Amino acid sequence: MNVLILGSGGRECAFAWKIAQSKHLSKLFIAPGNAGTAEIGENIEMNVNDFDAIKTAALNHRIDLVVVGPEDPLVRGIHDFFLADDTLRHIPVIGPQKFAAQLEGSKEFAKEFMAKHDIPTAKYQSFTIDNIDQGYAFLESLKAPYVLKADGLAGGKGVLILNDLAEAKQELKEMLGHQKFGTASAKVVIEEFLDGIELSSFVLTNGEDYVVLPNAKDYKRIGEGDTGLNTGGMGAISPVPFADDTFLKKVENRVIKPTIEGLKKDKIPYVGFIFIGLIKVNNEPYVIEYNVRMGDPETEVVLPRIKSDFLELLLATYFKKLHQYKLDIDDRYATTVMLVAGGYPEAYAKGNEIKGLDKVEDSVLFHAGTTVKNNKVVTNGGRVLAVTSYGEGFRLALEKSYNSIEKIHFDQMNFRRDLGFDL
Ligand code: AMP
Ligand code: GLY
Repeated sequence: MNVLILGSGGRECAFAWKIAQSKHLSKLFIAPGNAGTAEIGENIEMNVNDFDAIKTAALNHRIDLVVVGPEDPLVRGIHDFFLADDTLRHIPVIGPQKFAAQLEGSKEFAKEFMAKHDIPTAKYQSFTIDNIDQGYAFLESLKAPYVLKADGLAGGKGVLILNDLAEAKQELKEMLGHQKFGTASAKVVIEEFLDGIELSSFVLTNGEDYVVLPNAKDYKRIGEGDTGLNTGGMGAISPVPFADDTFLKKVENRVIKPTIEGLKKDKIPYVGFIFIGLIKVNNEPYVIEYNVRMGDPETEVVLPRIKSDFLELLLATYFKKLHQYKLDIDDRYATTVMLVAGGYPEAYAKGNEIKGLDKVEDSVLFHAGTTVKNNKVVTNGGRVLAVTSYGEGFRLALEKSYNSIEKIHFDQMNFRRDLGFDL
């Protein structure tokens, strides 16, 4: 079969790498992809939100399956677009329809869903400019730190955690009154702060059955010791060492099952990944957020640990055969370290040549912000390369990633040297 992957990051490169190993694959296309995906399949230049261009590509290349990487086209309804079109309807799309994508696209929608289905999460209320005074009063009723979340998609920047009440009130006013995050902050969810350690659970579901994929922990801050600005993710480890079987059973029974049951009860169709951001507080799991896609860089450690044929798994999901499906998982740890451009997550340079990629032997390289210029692989984004390795323990895997990184070079290359410091 012919497969089209939408997206251009390390996540999509990992999808391409894994799907290319499937015995069911004929031709693989990635739109728009990067220098790494160009070596695995054929890149098609386009914007992932240009649905007409996606339609043309799907028909021209006789695509049999579409895997949607990022949230944006899902929240904008790419799956609904396929279902509404007579020439596309027969093509399975992995990624939920617009209504379900609100689990990521609207924090309020997600919180209401959790409340309705008794899924443990932080206490919350949501506010608009019309009841901002009640927002101030709710802040006064909470203890510091204060968690303010823009309701809509804000590119991972829409969450503020503030220690000072006056500052929290000021920021609430900025978000609601002055569109600090544009229309995304026309509504703001204020939450109780949860103090614990974070991890993520990944589920693949068709709304009836599900499989739980390997879990992972990512490192979001730019600076060592989890300091500085938030990034898309500077590295990840799978499995999560502190998530023992007892805790994972709680996650499955209190979070995953009620989530799938909730979708069913609410008659919300869902085909695709659910990425559940969790926080462990006194050994109990609480949901921080849902994402309706895989994580990046989590995918770069989750997929390498799946031994099963990935297309077979996606087809079993789409055609509701998951109850007969047994996922085969690699027992080893996988770790990934993100190489980023100096300055990221603020302004950074592009177009720097990346050297030494061919010298790496003990790691798998997943390209993120890379492209080919004059026959050279150059940087083309903030997050440039994910360096993934396996090991019997996560420290051994990390050591391999760090050794591989010594062979790679581009101007102003930056990465975190302390992954796993908190484990
Ligand atoms: P989100 O976009 O909802 O995942 O939030 C971004 C980050 O903010 C999370 O990864 C957490 O580190 C932090 N965060 C969000 N909500 C809370 C909360 N209620 N308590 C503590 N930290 C939170
Ligand atoms: N690594 C976090 C995310 O993909 O949202």
